[in-house]
Amino acid sequence: MNLKILLLPGDGIGTEVTSAASCVLQAVAKKFGHTLELSEGLLGGVAIHKTGTPLPDETLQKALAADATFMGAVGLPEFDNVAPEKRPEKGLLGIRKALGVFANLRPVRTWPALVESSPLKNHLVEGTDMIIVRELTGGLYYGEPRGIFGDRAFNTMAYTRVEIERVTRKAFALARARRKKLTNVDKSNVLEVSQFWRRVVNDVAPEFPDVELEHMLVDTCAMQLVLSPRRFDVIVTENTFGDILSDEGAVLAGSIGMLPSASLGESKGLYEPVHGSAPDIAGQNKANPLGAIGSVAAMLEYSFGLMKEAEAVNTAIGRVLESGNVTADLKPKGAPATTDEVGRAVSEAL
Ligand code: IPM
Ligand code: MG
Repeated sequence: MNLKILLLPGDGIGTEVTSAASCVLQAVAKKFGHTLELSEGLLGGVAIHKTGTPLPDETLQKALAADATFMGAVGLPEFDNVAPEKRPEKGLLGIRKALGVFANLRPVRTWPALVESSPLKNHLVEGTDMIIVRELTGGLYYGEPRGIFGDRAFNTMAYTRVEIERVTRKAFALARARRKKLTNVDKSNVLEVSQFWRRVVNDVAPEFPDVELEHMLVDTCAMQLVLSPRRFDVIVTENTFGDILSDEGAVLAGSIGMLPSASLGESKGLYEPVHGSAPDIAGQNKANPLGAIGSVAAMLEYSFGLMKEAEAVNTAIGRVLESGNVTADLKPKGAPATTDEVGRAVSEAL
C-alpha cells in the first residue's frame, strides 16, 4: 500500500517527537512492505516566523492532498500575550476545521509497566481503558460572536443538531466495537447547549440499542475519572470539556507524554499527541515520543485500515515500556533515555 502522509512538526518538542514518529513509520513500512510518500509542512509558531501566518495555504493544500496528516505540537511562549487570532494555536484550530475532523479520539489506558508512574493509587488506575471522544470543530473554540470589547469579553458556545449527531454516532460505533458502554458528558443542569446536546444524544441512541448509554455532568465526570476510571468505556463530550477531561485522563496513563489522539472526519484524518509543545523541555531530546508514536498506530488503524501494523506498533510500545528504556517523565530515578533512543527502540522492537 502507498501511504501518502504529511508531517507537521510544529513548535517546541513537536519537532523532536515527530522525528521519532517518522522513524517508527519508516520501520513499519519497511517491515510490512508499504511505500511511504512523506512530505513536510509548516504549522504554528514556526509558520508565523517563516510566512507570517500560523496556517499557510501551502500547508492546507498539502494536507488536503495527503491521505493522513501527523502533527507534532504548536505553541510558543513568545505568543503568550498575543490575541487568539494571531497565535500558533490558531493554525491547529484552522487545520482541524479545514479538514473537517469533528471527532477527536483520545484513548486513555494504563500500561502495566506504568502503574507506578501515575500519582494515583495502583488499585485505582490498573486496568483503565477508555476512549474520550471530544467534539473538535465546534463549541466554544469556534463560536461567534467572540471578542474583548472594552471592559467586557465573551465567547459563544453553540452546537447544531448535525454537529452533535455525527460525533455521537462515531462514539456509539466505537463503543459498539468495545465494551458497549457510552457515557455522555455535559453540563445540562446549567447550560442550554448541554440540554440540547443531551436531547440529540438521546435521539441517536435508538440506532444503537446494543450500547448502554448513561449521562453524566462534567464536574461529576472530572471526579469519577480519578475515583473510578475503570467504569468508563467510551466518553463523548463537547470540545472544551473534552480538552480539559483528556488532560486529566493523562494522569491515569502516567504521563501526558503517553497520550495519542486521532481526529477523524468524513474522509481525512489528523493525528496528534495530546501533550502540546512543552517549551520548558524543547530542544533537549528528552520529550516522551510515545504519545506521538501511538498516534502513528492510530493513523495506521483509522486512515489506512492497517490493523496488524497498528497492533505491531502498540505491542512495540509495550515492549519498550517493559524494558525500562523510557524518558525522564516516566523514570524519576536512574538514567532516562532520550527521545531519539525511544524512537529507535520502538523501531527495533518492531
Ligand atoms: C489539545 C490542545 C489544543 C486544544 C491547543 C494547543 C489549541 O490543548 O489538543 O488538547 O485546546 O485543542
Ligand atoms: Mg488540550
